[in-house]
Amino acid sequence: MKMSLGLGLGLGSVLVPLLTLSLLVSISSAEISGKVGVNYGQLGNNLPSPSRSVELIKSLKAKRVKIYDANPEILKALKNTDIQVSIMVPNQLISNISHNQTLADQWVLSNVVPFYPDTMIRYLLVGNEILSSYSDTQTWYDLVPAMRKIKNSLRVHGIRKIKVGTPSAMDVLESSFPPSNGTFRSDIAARVIKPMLQFLNRTKSFFFLDVYPYFPWSSDPVNIKLDYALFESKNTTYLDPVSGLTYTNLFDQMVDALTFGMKRLGYPDIRIWIAETGWPNGGDFDQIGCNIYNAATYNRNVVKKFTSDPPIGTPARPGKVLPSFIFALYNENQKPGAGTERHFGLLNPDGSNVYEMDLSGETPESEYKPLPKPTNNELYKGKIWCMVAKGANKSEVESALSYACSQGNKTCDPIQPRGRCYKPDSLFWHASYAFSSYWAQFKKVGGSCYFNGLATQTIKDPSYGSCKFPGVTLI
Ligand SMILES: *[C@@H]1O[C@H](CO)[C@@H](O)[C@H](O)[C@H]1NC(C)=O
Ligand SMILES: *[C@@H]1O[C@H](CO)[C@@H](O)[C@H](O)[C@H]1NC(C)=O
Ligand SMILES: *[C@@H]1O[C@H](CO)[C@@H](O)[C@H](O)[C@H]1NC(C)=O
Ligand SMILES: *[C@@H]1O[C@H](CO)[C@@H](O)[C@H](O)[C@H]1NC(C)=O
Ligand SMILES: *[C@@H]1O[C@H](CO)[C@@H](O)[C@H](O)[C@H]1NC(C)=O
Ligand SMILES: *[C@@H]1O[C@H](CO)[C@@H](O)[C@H](O)[C@H]1NC(C)=O
Ligand SMILES: *[C@@H]1O[C@H](CO)[C@@H](O)[C@H](O)[C@H]1NC(C)=O
Repeated sequence: MKMSLGLGLGLGSVLVPLLTLSLLVSISSAEISGKVGVNYGQLGNNLPSPSRSVELIKSLKAKRVKIYDANPEILKALKNTDIQVSIMVPNQLISNISHNQTLADQWVLSNVVPFYPDTMIRYLLVGNEILSSYSDTQTWYDLVPAMRKIKNSLRVHGIRKIKVGTPSAMDVLESSFPPSNGTFRSDIAARVIKPMLQFLNRTKSFFFLDVYPYFPWSSDPVNIKLDYALFESKNTTYLDPVSGLTYTNLFDQMVDALTFGMKRLGYPDIRIWIAETGWPNGGDFDQIGCNIYNAATYNRNVVKKFTSDPPIGTPARPGKVLPSFIFALYNENQKPGAGTERHFGLLNPDGSNVYEMDLSGETPESEYKPLPKPTNNELYKGKIWCMVAKGANKSEVESALSYACSQGNKTCDPIQPRGRCYKPDSLFWHASYAFSSYWAQFKKVGGSCYFNGLATQTIKDPSYGSCKFPGVTLI
């Protein structure tokens, strides 16, 4: 992903510590270039092969790629390219690795050593958004010990060019507004973040942060201007009353909140790496602002910022490079959750562009074809129903139907024999009724029209004859 330094030298050699040191200095300054990378997620059952994917990554002019594992096929396909690579230790291994140096050594031996240095692995991330998961808080406390053990293993193998880090979501902060009030959550600040910052400082690594202005904007589109979230604002600015810094976009506010949070814990200088950022090009009818126009606008603008020479930085760190990975290479059809989750790709699964994109930032705006006008920048006002999705697996739909009917009050009465919606007696119609009925009862308390990908939203009323489908009306 980043430029190759073409150094086949054994940097780990203990015989040449001074040479090693001076090379390290030049490497780390080359490392902080503004070249943009891409996140290559693989949660799809229809994605191109690793070797085709590497060709597509090159065609987007990405200089770095981040994967969510250490898939050997992908690492092989990246061999002898000038693309720098970030790999990941899976979440489930963190606790064991934190207690067991041998296990860390084995992981590095089987996932890094066979590919390095021909594949330019430069970042080794330990887990993904670990601090956002409350189901297993023990892993929080194991995270930094695991990072240290992985770093030791790299050192043992003489590998010094690989930085160790871990990506965090914005929810590691309990306060991010105004940016100067940025504060880490009290449940992790002392016990996890402080030792992590110490580790990142000592190893000259980065704080890897996932930054999505889409989420705060879409949850408060009345008070936050869309233009401000898309880097298109001509006249909206925000003056932080404490720092006196002026903001012209939401992204900078979010990133600076982290800077102030780190400063509050005594580490004002740790560099930030944007591990993920992006904007959804599509989603569900009950979601707002997820469209190709906004996605292309956001990503082109953020790439322009990242690749600007001289660098722009943020108000708290003007002129500083922000290295980055855009999320994501593909629309991934097996990502769980709301429809937007499956629509962050620069590319469709067949390899075609969702919209034109040049991650080098060199293509001028005027050379892009016009974009389709956004249709959902305001929340949809009509009724929505939840139906069985095309191609859904029959036996899974049967289980989902039983589940939906077992919830709530009289959810499925009309599809019982002699009920108003019993006929046609088909799995598709019965399950669609059950999904709509379930969603209508539970949407207000967080229920979703998803059912593990078996369901899809429609704005076309599926009711027929005397059978009325319950729908959801957005407010
Ligand atoms: C972690 O270690 C325990 C005990 O050695 C083992 O039972 C478990 O399977 C390991 N977990 C993983 C994810 O490897
Ligand atoms: C540490 O990991 C190694 C390699 O997986 C395993 O053989 C060993 O039993 C582990 N040690 C402990 C104390 O779990
Ligand atoms: C600053 O953050 C704290 C929590 O860390 C919060 O209670 C307070 O309201 C925030 N201040 C402002 C002005 O938002
Ligand atoms: C800011 O710009 C928007 C559109 O560019 C315009 O609608 C609005 O009136 C402007 N507001 C001010 C205060 O100039
Ligand atoms: C590490 O911390 C020291 C002391 O605060 C600071 O001088 C130095 O710039 C920091 N280095 C990095 C890479 O954050
Ligand atoms: C449907 O799902 C079941 C259970 O997950 C699985 O065993 C089966 O192979 C699937 N059928 C098809 C056609 O994919
Ligand atoms: C079911 O109905 C009862 C009585 O009307 C009500 O108290 C309860 O909240 C309802 N449950 C759901 C899930 O709607």
